[in-house]
Amino acid sequence: MSDPPDVEADTRAYYRARASEYEQWLRRQGRYAHGPDDDDDWRGELRTLSQFAGAAAGGRVFEIASGTGWWTRVLARGARVIASDYAPEMLAEARRRDPAGAQVQRCRCDAYRLPVRSASCDGCVFGFWLSHVPVPRAAAFVREAARVVRPGGRILLLDSRQDPQSGAHDQRTAGPRVQRQLRRLNDGREFHIWKIYWTPADLHFLLGLVCRQVEVIQTPRFFIGARGIVAGAAR
Ligand SMILES: C[S@@+](CC[C@H](N)C(=O)[O-])C[C@H]1O[C@@H](n2cnc3c(N)ncnc32)[C@H](O)[C@@H]1O
Repeated sequence: MSDPPDVEADTRAYYRARASEYEQWLRRQGRYAHGPDDDDDWRGELRTLSQFAGAAAGGRVFEIASGTGWWTRVLARGARVIASDYAPEMLAEARRRDPAGAQVQRCRCDAYRLPVRSASCDGCVFGFWLSHVPVPRAAAFVREAARVVRPGGRILLLDSRQDPQSGAHDQRTAGPRVQRQLRRLNDGREFHIWKIYWTPADLHFLLGLVCRQVEVIQTPRFFIGARGIVAGAAR
C-alpha cells in the first residue's frame, strides 16, 4: 500500500500543474461546462461575486493565492494590488493577463507567511483559497491575513458553495463539508486536495476573530463571500 499523500504538498503541486487550464473552471469550458442552464446560473452568480469583491477594493491591497489573476483584475479597477501566489506557473499566467497600465505587482509567497510589514495595506483579499486551508490552520491563517492590514482596513474572501455542478464532471463534491477531494487534470494526472465548504456561521466566526462588521453573502448555488473591517492589532 502506498503512503497517504501529503495533501497540502499535493495541493501546491496540483495548482502548479493546472495553471494553464485553470480558467476553464471559471469560464465553464471543457470538463467544467455543464450545459447552458447551469452555466448561465454560474455566470450570473459570478457577476454578483465580482460586485461584492469590487466594492471592497481601494488603496493598497494584498492578494493571497491570486492564481491566474481573475480577482486581481477586478480589484485593480480600484486599487493598487500586490498579488501573491505560491505557484510560479500561476504567476506567469497572471502576468500575461494583467491589463496594460494596471497597478499590479506580483510576488511568490506562501499564504501562511506574507512578505509585507504589519498594517502596511488597506486590504487583504483571498479568492477560493480558504477552502483549501486545513481547518486546524484556518484561525492562524486569518490572523496572518489581518496582520498586514491597517486597523479600519478590509478583509475580503470569496469561495465555493457545495454544488454538484461547481467543478469538473468527474469531480465529486457531495459528502462531508470537509473533504479530501481527488482532482484530475485534462491529461488525467491525479492529485489530492483539501476542500472545505465553509458555512456563513464559520465565516462569521473566523473573520470575527480579527474583524468587526463582518458581512457574509451567498449566491443561490455556487458562491459564498465574506468581508469585514479589521479591528486593530491582530488578536
Ligand atoms: C483555487 S486557486 C484560486 C486562485 C484565484 N484566487 C482565483 O480565485 O481564481 C488556489 C490558488 O492557491 C495557490 N496556492 C496553493 N497553495 C498555496 C500556498 N501554500 N501559498 C500560496 N498560494 C498557494 C495555488 O497556486 C492557486 O493559485
